[in-house]
Amino acid sequence: MSAPQVGVPPFAVISGAQVQRALRGREKQIVGLVEATYRLHGAGESVNPPSYFLRFPDRPSARIIALPASIGGPIRVDGMKWISSFPDNVAAGIPRASAVLILNDHDTGYPFACLESSIISATRTAASAALGADMLTRGRARPTRVGFIGTGLIARYIHTFLAATGWSFDEIGVHDMSAASAAGFRGHLEQSGAAGRIMVHDSAEELIRSSDLVVFATVAGRPHVGDVSWFDHNPVVLHVSLRDLAPEIVLASTNIVDDVEHCLKADTSPHLAEQLAGNRDFLHGTLDDVMAGRVTVPTGRPVVFSPFGLGVLDLAVGKYVYDEVTRCGELQVIDHFFHDLRRYG
Ligand SMILES: NC(=O)c1ccc[n+]([C@@H]2O[C@H](COP(=O)([O-])OP(=O)(O)OC[C@H]3O[C@@H](n4cnc5c(N)ncnc54)[C@H](O)[C@@H]3O)[C@@H](O)[C@H]2O)c1
Repeated sequence: MSAPQVGVPPFAVISGAQVQRALRGREKQIVGLVEATYRLHGAGESVNPPSYFLRFPDRPSARIIALPASIGGPIRVDGMKWISSFPDNVAAGIPRASAVLILNDHDTGYPFACLESSIISATRTAASAALGADMLTRGRARPTRVGFIGTGLIARYIHTFLAATGWSFDEIGVHDMSAASAAGFRGHLEQSGAAGRIMVHDSAEELIRSSDLVVFATVAGRPHVGDVSWFDHNPVVLHVSLRDLAPEIVLASTNIVDDVEHCLKADTSPHLAEQLAGNRDFLHGTLDDVMAGRVTVPTGRPVVFSPFGLGVLDLAVGKYVYDEVTRCGELQVIDHFFHDLRRYG
């Protein structure tokens, strides 16, 4: 047998504008892709080590996270997302998060693409939230009142994904500690023709009590919602920002995560709940467990989905974008990016 042909792949750079073009209007497809990726991850066809958090003593609210990962199956790509979160950016009028995604070739390890990745990250997060909303409401009455706590970019993407995957609501609740953010999100909902009455709530309590689907997308670093009775009506909670709920609320709910080891870290609310309870019995399973029927979600309790956010999802969506840009003939290759390739010059 002859040796397999391997060569240095061309290196491409994909801009945010290209990423957005490749993903726009494909929400259902992306939710399907995220679902397939969760299944591959659940079946062990991935390598997804813990994210690495780079923090700075002189800028305590900021961080940059590295998410290395490898995904097998039909996607078959390695890589890493490198994503900054600088919350003070928002006051300066630029987005909090910025990111790049590097894709590495399966056979040679060579990086073959660098993609703008804040859109990919928001997209895979919103797709995972929409998938969670669908899977976790199957055994109960479909929510008609959604409420968003924290109304920045991620909330906007999640609303877009819910709407594009068939959700319509009688009421959309909005709450943000910044009145300007709440007004901005409201304006976006009105402009995008979102179905449903839009209600801006002054308190998280009011919003939670009047929503049967609650989305947390704040930048809270520690729990700010602590009263279990606010959840007496057993809502489905998409706890995307991970640190909003007091551990008592987590312990009083059915808890579904994307990956157990990932989610019980970095002072997330489930991590705090583990410390309070001294065990992990409050975790009922992963979304993949629910999709595969290994876990059923009871109706008589709140259900909290806490997706830590897996690097494999970024890879899957990033590879989708790469293939799409290639298919359209728009791949911008950087000539001679890898240079000095002869062993002895
Ligand atoms: N789990 C995942 O996979 C994943 C992926 C991407 C982003 N996220 C998280 O989503 C969150 C939102 O991201 P974003 O880009 O939309 O941020 P953003 O800064 O654009 O918006 C966050 C909003 O939350 C509001 N807020 C902060 N604390 C609040 C509180 N206690 N009550 C009400 N509102 C509050 C802010 O005023 C702001 O409007 C971040 O925490 C981010 O880490 C999670």
